[in-house]
Amino acid sequence: MSEDIDINSKKRNFDQEAAKWDQVPGRVKVAQDIAQSMIRELTLTPDMDVLDFGCGTGLLTFALQPFVRSITGVDSSQGMLDVFRTKIKEQNLNNIKASYLDLDNGGALSGSYHLIVSSMTLHHVKEIGPLLTQFHRVIYSSGSLCIADLDSDDGQFHGNNDGVFHDGFNREDLSRMFMSAGFRGMRVVQAAQIEKPVGDGKSRFFTIFLMIGRKE
Ligand SMILES: C[S@@+](CC[C@H](N)C(=O)[O-])C[C@H]1O[C@@H](n2cnc3c(N)ncnc32)[C@H](O)[C@@H]1O
Repeated sequence: MSEDIDINSKKRNFDQEAAKWDQVPGRVKVAQDIAQSMIRELTLTPDMDVLDFGCGTGLLTFALQPFVRSITGVDSSQGMLDVFRTKIKEQNLNNIKASYLDLDNGGALSGSYHLIVSSMTLHHVKEIGPLLTQFHRVIYSSGSLCIADLDSDDGQFHGNNDGVFHDGFNREDLSRMFMSAGFRGMRVVQAAQIEKPVGDGKSRFFTIFLMIGRKE
């Protein structure tokens, strides 16, 4: 079996979840907290072109849209993109668009951006190094990469670990990967926390970091 087929068989089917994705209040709250943290930590300006990698239904994209010139969401789930595009039409926005991209099956990022953001997607991507290298390639000099994802969670965050290739991230390890891809001046803050049941009637707090690196 080839590596590609292996990855695809382990992927989570986000298409099936798309229609109800925005109906989970805890999920929407986390996306809002992440967006607020990005708005605080990044200097967003009306001349910026932004890419949201793994945009899903656009919870983060739509929150950042008023602060920048354009924002492009990319995702490998057609179902998520359908919901995203319906929202663009409903809100009659012309500085926001959504494109299909599956990096695991030969897709490559295109265009040039002042900023790439991504929320809760990195742990669904098996090979992080090549992804960060692609990000670096399409970011303008002096542009930034801003990733929001789970701190190491011992595999407890997701009830179903299908399509979860990383049990969260160790911040120092990820910072070293940013550095290897060419990013510098990494900063990390906590963006959000979520309390979730983990079995036996117990619950646990999970934290989400924001890591920002600059392309020099
Ligand atoms: C947990 S959801 C997060 C969605 C959104 N960023 C949010 O915060 O609501 C992860 C998203 O990443 C997308 N995704 C997973 N692997 C991907 C890949 N290799 N390329 C592009 N998108 C991917 C999924 O389709 C899904 O929409």
